[in-house]
Amino acid sequence: MTLERATGPFPGLDLEHPSAARVYDFLLGGTTNWAIDRGFAKRAIEKMPIVRVLAKTNREFIQRAAVFCAQRGFKQFLDLGSGIPTAGNVHEIVDTICPDARVVYVDFEPVAVAHSRLLLEEHGDPERHTVIHENLLDARAVWETAVSTGVLDPGKPLAVLAGAVLHFVLKPDVHDALQSYRELMVPGSALALTHVVEEGVPEPELSQIREFIELYQKSSTPVTFRTRDEIRSFYGDFAFESCGLAWLPEWLPDIYESPAIATLHGNPARSCVVGGLALKPEPAGLED
Ligand SMILES: C[S@@+](CC[C@H](N)C(=O)[O-])C[C@H]1O[C@@H](n2cnc3c(N)ncnc32)[C@H](O)[C@@H]1O
Repeated sequence: MTLERATGPFPGLDLEHPSAARVYDFLLGGTTNWAIDRGFAKRAIEKMPIVRVLAKTNREFIQRAAVFCAQRGFKQFLDLGSGIPTAGNVHEIVDTICPDARVVYVDFEPVAVAHSRLLLEEHGDPERHTVIHENLLDARAVWETAVSTGVLDPGKPLAVLAGAVLHFVLKPDVHDALQSYRELMVPGSALALTHVVEEGVPEPELSQIREFIELYQKSSTPVTFRTRDEIRSFYGDFAFESCGLAWLPEWLPDIYESPAIATLHGNPARSCVVGGLALKPEPAGLED
C-alpha cells in the first residue's frame, strides 16, 4: 500500500492527534515533536514516571540486536516502524562494525520518514541507506519497495527489526504480514522484535502501563497488549538465539552500552516489554 501523498513540508502530517513516532521521540529526549505530542507524553509520564526509561530500554534493545547481527556478519537490515531518527540509529551502529552494511528504514508516519530522509541525505550513503514510506502491514509492498531501492539484495540473509511497533498494529492481519516477511526472508535471516506485555509485570508498573496504554487508545496509534505466546507466534518456526523471548534488560545486556537498564534496579519485569531475536532455519532436509 503506497501511502497517500499530500502537500506541505510533511505530507500527510496529522497534528490533531499525538503520534507514536513523535511521542517516542519526546520520551527519548528528541525535538521532533509538536505540542499535542508533548502534552500526551507529559500525561503519560504523570501516570507512569519510568516511561522515559522504558522508551530508552526499548531503543537500547534494538541497538543491541543490530550489534548482535552485525557481529555475526549480517550486512542487510530492514527496520520496520523505525521511527524518528535519534542518536544511535541502526545504520550508525552497524556501520561501526560492518562499514558496508545496508539499511532500509520503513515507517508510515510522515514526519518520521521526512526526518529519516534528511538525516540520510546529510549523513548516510545513498547506495547503502534509505527510508521508505509504507505500512508494515503490507509486507509485499514493503518488500518490493525496499528491494526496488537497490539497497537490499533479497537473495541474501537480512535482519528484520521491529522495535516497539507491532503493539501499534491492532489488526489480526499482522500475523499474515509477519508470515509474509518470514516467507520472503532467505534462510539464515534474522527477525528481532519487541512488544509490550501484561503477564509478569509487577505493581505498580502493571497498573501504570495499563493506564499509559489506555491513553494511547485516543491517539492516532492505539496500542494492544499481547501474550507471550502470541508474540512468539510472530517468529513462526524461526529458532531463538540467546535467551529466547525475554524481558528487554535480560537480552544480552552486555553487548552494547545500555545505560537505561541499570535504572530498572535489577527488576527486568519492570520494563513491561519483551524482545527476542530468532533465525530462519534451512529448509528441512538441506542441513548438512
Ligand atoms: C515507538 S516507535 C519505535 C521506533 C523504533 N522501532 C525503536 O524501537 O526505537 C514506533 C514506530 O512505529 C511506527 N508505526 C506504527 N505502526 C506502523 C505501521 N503499521 N507501519 C509502519 N510504521 C508503523 C510509528 O510511526 C513509530 O515511528
